Amino acid sequence: MNNILIAPSLLAADFANLQRDIEMINASEADWFHVDVMDGHFVPNISFGMPVIEAINRHATKPLDVHLMIEKPERYLAEFKRLGAANITVHYEACTHLHRTIQQIKDLGCLAGVVLNPATPVSVLEEILPDCEMVLLMSVNPGYGGQKFIEATYDKVRKLRRMIEEKGLKTLIEIDGGVNQETGQKLADAGADILIAGSYVFGAQDPLQTIANLKKIK
Ligand code: DX5
Ligand code: ZN
Repeated sequence: MNNILIAPSLLAADFANLQRDIEMINASEADWFHVDVMDGHFVPNISFGMPVIEAINRHATKPLDVHLMIEKPERYLAEFKRLGAANITVHYEACTHLHRTIQQIKDLGCLAGVVLNPATPVSVLEEILPDCEMVLLMSVNPGYGGQKFIEATYDKVRKLRRMIEEKGLKTLIEIDGGVNQETGQKLADAGADILIAGSYVFGAQDPLQTIANLKKIK
């Protein structure tokens, strides 16, 4: 098993000191920047949009992992690529023509991923899995940082890991919501590859050390 990848979520950063927080992640052992886009429709909350992502990309020295919590994400894929997205993940629940949307992401040259809400079973991935570079399992209901981790996620990770192995694929499993050192270790044990952490990293006394500790998870 490779070392786990860590993607701090900028949703928990100090937006009045965004450059400072981005430089902290640049200097850390983190692998990706997780960028949460919310539209107030697919999820109740609104986060930030294009100009902020463009500004993030000007300072970030690591790939942007863009998580679209928006309706009809296909309308904006090319724009997110232009703004610097390396990975784009879209919700299964937000895409009527998911296969087409995933192909569009790949055609843009980005890594493509499908996100599942906590209530959506991994069985819906049966047909799309071979087309995805990654699957993001939500371990909280999307919309807010700082929520409590949903324990049923461990089983879901194990099921998805089995599906990936049975199909002989290399799909990465990414987890988002309520990740800390303890849930992170259990997620890695269940078969997760990438951990997203927002409040745990940015709320820590020493975010750099917190990221270094998450990176030690095997
Ligand atoms: C929630 C977002 C998450 C959020 C995670 O809808 O997708 O990326 O930032 O926050 P924590 O790690 O605080 O649960
Ligand atoms: Zn997210």
